[in-house]
Amino acid sequence: MTDPRPIGIFDSGVGGLTVASRVGEILPSEHIVYFGDTARVPYGTKSKETVTRFSVENVEFLMRHDVKLIIVACNTASSLGLEFLKRCFRVPILGVIEPGARAAARYTRTNRIGVIGTSATIASGAYEKAIAKLRSGKYIFSQSCPLFVPIVEEGWLDTRITRDIASIYLKGLRAKNIDTLILGCTHYPLLKNVIGEVMGKSVRLVDSAEEVAREARGILEASGLLNNSGRPGKQKFFVSDEPPRFIKMAKRFLRRRIKCVKADGIAR
Ligand code: DGL
Repeated sequence: MTDPRPIGIFDSGVGGLTVASRVGEILPSEHIVYFGDTARVPYGTKSKETVTRFSVENVEFLMRHDVKLIIVACNTASSLGLEFLKRCFRVPILGVIEPGARAAARYTRTNRIGVIGTSATIASGAYEKAIAKLRSGKYIFSQSCPLFVPIVEEGWLDTRITRDIASIYLKGLRAKNIDTLILGCTHYPLLKNVIGEVMGKSVRLVDSAEEVAREARGILEASGLLNNSGRPGKQKFFVSDEPPRFIKMAKRFLRRRIKCVKADGIAR
């Protein structure tokens, strides 16, 4: 049995391409429809009501492409809107918080876990709640790093300024002797080198993008929804504003050139 319908992925903008890229690696035959809400990015500074409303519209857009599974690549939308989305739609919807939390709980030896993310993700306590559900006795320390998103979008992945900012943000977490750090934002995997250097070798970094891609494979396998064609899947990219800017930044995230189309009827 094979199911040729695409997987839908949405994010507030370009950052979710870290997730699309991992899904492409782990599920190479799956078609992907990606939507980046570039007209309304950032989500990380907005309220739960606003992010949830945007997320519902994003899912409605993906549903028009007959998707078989949706991945909410955005950590902020996963933190604030996932529960509501799951209640509203019948298609399976996966967020990035639980897979990331599960991986961190598995990796830690000292039970001391750090989480970094946007202001909204950290304020929501979503990672703390997800980890608490898994195993008790974990100490979780969190820190918002709002400047990391514009730094990545500017392409300053490995500069002195980036290192200085990372040192300031992560100073408190370093003092907590954590052994595992969740990169709780779509953009942060691109700063893995700098974050790794600042935190030191003894701290394992958890990339939620990789974890959610594995989880998606598990769900498709278990429910008989895999695409078994053996041919490489096609990827389509849509945004709510400014395709040229998205295409430019996508090169940094995917290390290749893509085509991208402005989505109709969303974020007007
Ligand atoms: N995609 C967002 C996240 O993972 C980061 C960018 C934004 O604030 O919208 O939380």
